[in-house]
Amino acid sequence: MTVALVILAAGKGTRMQSDIPKVLHEVAGASLLAHTLKAGQSLQPSRTIIVAGHGAQEIEVASKAYDENCELILQTEQLGTGHAVEQTRATLAGFKGSVIVLYGDTPLISAKTLKRLNDSLVTSAVSVLGFQATDPGKYGRLITQGDKLDRIVEFKDASDEERSIKLCNSGVMGISAPLLFELLLQLDNKNAVGEYYLTDIVALATAQNATCTIVQCDESETLGVNSRVELAQAEHTFQTIRRAEALKIGVTMPAPETVHFSFDTIIGRDTVIEQNVVFGPGVTVENGARIRSFSHLEGAHISDGCIIGPYARLRPGAELAENVKIGNFVEVKASTLHENVKVNHLSYIGDANIGARTNIGAGTVTCNYDGAMKHQTKIGQDVFIGSNTMLVAPVKIGDGALTASGSVIVNDVPSGALALGRSKQVNKPGLAFKLMKKFKAIKVSKKGN
Ligand code: UD1
Ligand code: MG
Repeated sequence: MTVALVILAAGKGTRMQSDIPKVLHEVAGASLLAHTLKAGQSLQPSRTIIVAGHGAQEIEVASKAYDENCELILQTEQLGTGHAVEQTRATLAGFKGSVIVLYGDTPLISAKTLKRLNDSLVTSAVSVLGFQATDPGKYGRLITQGDKLDRIVEFKDASDEERSIKLCNSGVMGISAPLLFELLLQLDNKNAVGEYYLTDIVALATAQNATCTIVQCDESETLGVNSRVELAQAEHTFQTIRRAEALKIGVTMPAPETVHFSFDTIIGRDTVIEQNVVFGPGVTVENGARIRSFSHLEGAHISDGCIIGPYARLRPGAELAENVKIGNFVEVKASTLHENVKVNHLSYIGDANIGARTNIGAGTVTCNYDGAMKHQTKIGQDVFIGSNTMLVAPVKIGDGALTASGSVIVNDVPSGALALGRSKQVNKPGLAFKLMKKFKAIKVSKKGN
C-alpha cells in the first residue's frame, strides 16, 4: 500500500524557552524533525507532508535540506491535532493509500516499529501506536473492547477510572486516506480544551464498524520533547541505544557511557573507542581502528588500523587511509592522508594531500589561509617533514624529500631534496656567561632600591 507521511510540527513549543522552532532542536547532531523524517522515510512514502505553523519558514528550509521532496503545509492557527491533519485535505485529494501521522517532536520512534504499524494496516482500518506507560501522566488513554481499540480519551476529558489505565497513545496513527478524510469532517471541538482531536477519529471509525488496532512499542520510543529536560532525556536514550548497538556489532568501549555518537556514526568491528570520545556528524570508522581518549571527530573517514589521539581533532573532509597515525593535539581538516602516514604531535594539517609513509614532525603547520583564500599543500610519499616546519601553501613537496626543522617552506621542494628554510646559526663563545653575570648584577641593584 502506498504511504503518505503527515508530520505534525505546528506547535509553538513554549516550554523550550527558545527562539528556535521546537522541532529544529537537536538530538545526536540531527534535528528532532530529521529523526522523525528518517524513521518515517524508512516506509518509502510517496509523499512527505509537514504541517508547520510557528517557525514555518525555518522548518521548510530544514526539511527541504533533508529531502527536497518534502511538502510544507501551513496551519496558521493551532486548533488541535485533528485540525492540523485536516490542513492536508487539498494536498492529498485523490490519494488512496495509507496516511501515517507522526509528530515532529517525537524523535525516538524506530523504523522497525513504524514497519509493524504500517503492516498492521493490511488487516486494520485504523492502527494506533500505543505503549504501557510507567507514569501515564497526561497522555491520551487507549480504551479497548476485547483485543480491539474502541476509542481514545484525552487526559483532560477522562474519568478517574479511565485515568487509571496505563495503556497510552503515542500519537502515531495509521489510517487509510479516504476513511481519514471522511471521518475528519465529523470531528468537533466539544471537549475540555476546545480543540479538534485527531484521536476522536478512533471512536468515529468504531461507530462505523471499522477495525481499530493497537500496535504496542516500548515506552522509550514514544518520548515527546517539550522542554530542555526532555531534550536531554531524548539525547540520553538515543546514546544508550546507540552504544548498545555498537557493542553488539563488535566495537570495544571500556567506558561506553562516556562515548558520544551522532545520528549517523558508523563504526566497524574490532575498533576500540577509549573513554570520552565525541563523534560529530558524518564519521565512518572502518575495522580494527583505535580512537584514543578525548578525541573529537566530525565528517571524517578513518580506515582499518588507524590510531587516532589521544586529544586529536578530525574535522570535515579528513580522509585517512589504512594505518594512519594521528597523535595528541593534532588537527586535520579537508585533507587526504595515504597509508601509514604519521602525524604524531601538535600539528595542523588543512587542505593537504600527504603521500604514503610520510612522517610529519611535531609542530608542523600547513599555512593554508592567506586571509582571503585557502590553498593546497601537496606532500609526496616517504617524505620527512622536520619538526616545526611551516608549509606556506600553495606548495608541493616531492617524494622522498626532507625539510629541516624550523623551516618556513614557501617554494616547492623537488623530489629527494633537503629544504633548509631557516636562518643560519651563529655561536658567540663565552657570551652567555658574560650576559648572565650582567643581568644578575642589575637584578641585585634593583632590589637595593
Ligand atoms: C497528543 C494526543 C494524545 C497523546 C499525546 C502523545 C491528541 C488530541 N492527543 O496530545 O492522545 O497521548 O499526543 O504525546 O492528539 N500540533 C499541531 N497543530 C495543532 C496541535 C498540535 O501541529 O493544532 C502538533 C504539535 O506540534 C505536536 C503534536 O501535534 O507535535 C501533538 O500535539 P500536542 O499539543 O503536544 O498534543 P498532546 O496534548 O501532547
Ligand atoms: Mg505533546
